Amino acid sequence: MLASEKLLLRALRGETLVPPPIWLMRQAGRYLPEYREVRKRTGNFLELCYTPELAVEVTLQPIRRYGFDAAIIFSDILVVPDALGQGVAFHEGKGPVLEALQNAGDVKKLVWQEGKLDPVYDALRSVRRDLPEETALIGFAGAPWTLAAYMIEGGGSKDFAKATHWASAAPESFAELIRLLTESIAHHLIRQIEAGAEALQIFDSWAGKIPASQFERICLEPTRAIVEAVHKKFPDVPILGFPRGVGLSRYESYAEKSGVDGISIDASISPKLAAAKLQPHVCVQGNLDPKALIAGGAAMGAGVAEILQGLGGGPFVFNLGHGVDLKTPPDHVAELVALVREGATG
Ligand code: CP3
Repeated sequence: MLASEKLLLRALRGETLVPPPIWLMRQAGRYLPEYREVRKRTGNFLELCYTPELAVEVTLQPIRRYGFDAAIIFSDILVVPDALGQGVAFHEGKGPVLEALQNAGDVKKLVWQEGKLDPVYDALRSVRRDLPEETALIGFAGAPWTLAAYMIEGGGSKDFAKATHWASAAPESFAELIRLLTESIAHHLIRQIEAGAEALQIFDSWAGKIPASQFERICLEPTRAIVEAVHKKFPDVPILGFPRGVGLSRYESYAEKSGVDGISIDASISPKLAAAKLQPHVCVQGNLDPKALIAGGAAMGAGVAEILQGLGGGPFVFNLGHGVDLKTPPDHVAELVALVREGATG
């Protein structure tokens, strides 16, 4: 099959497909027993990301089980800070831990280490060879703000107050960090395309924490610069953006101004309104509540029906509003795929 005929790529180019293509953010992970089996055999999580044979295996697991329309390379958004020389560690049950940046001097010490992420590109090349011919391969990166937020806080945070404080109290060094990240992320995405990625997603998981007055400067403009740099080299590789939690009006300016081909939306957005406000600009991806997937049954059925009715009439990719939760019963994922492919509109 020609790459151009893969359903995900057709939808991202603006075609309305019935049924729509489906894949899920975090479709590989601990909710799958076969992932936990591989995970047991590796020390820390980054070792799994940097061992191509294992990264390939866990990337393919959800494809074998569910036949999704796309695979997403198994990696993490925090490999970019790692490649910039900022120590990143994952502690069991605690999430990521980084040596927090303290000041402008720490930003200056960050230097891209070419070669560090070669295992990710090697894994992409192997996955591309092993995928069924109809399955698209997605590469990804975190957006500058979300990465800066983890790098400044030294890990996850409820409100990312240190990061927003730095952005307003020391705008020059903050801009310097965002500039370095913008350049590094664009480079990492281009390398992923060269290794076989056919579409890209930019995760701005904490975009909802950016003060409204700073949204253009901190989210929109750096994202637009990344999209431009990638599209200058690879104009035909579609890019999805996911500025999670920003609300409908900022999703709309992102859809209009960032240059992305598709926008992933969280579960707080009404599918009908998303169709009216976003689909005229770009393909929309989303947005079943991951909790509805945990619940399964009627709750999941109702959510799927509302989404297909609201968004199914335009360019659309079925996904969740955020990643698959650890507590998700694997059988519910199989039921979801069947429902979407049957076109269950209630
Ligand atoms: O299947 C896929 O979607 C591909 C793999 C993928 C992972 N992380 C694997 C992973 C992707 C696309 C990501 C993106 C990512 N990583 C994001 C953006 C999406 C989002 O969730 O908002 C963020 C914020 C991160 C940072 C991160 N990585 C955190 C906060 C954690 C710890 C929390 C947790 O769930 O454990 C991780 C670790 C991580 N990344 C795991 C997986 C499967 C779990 C690690 C393990 O198996 O021990």
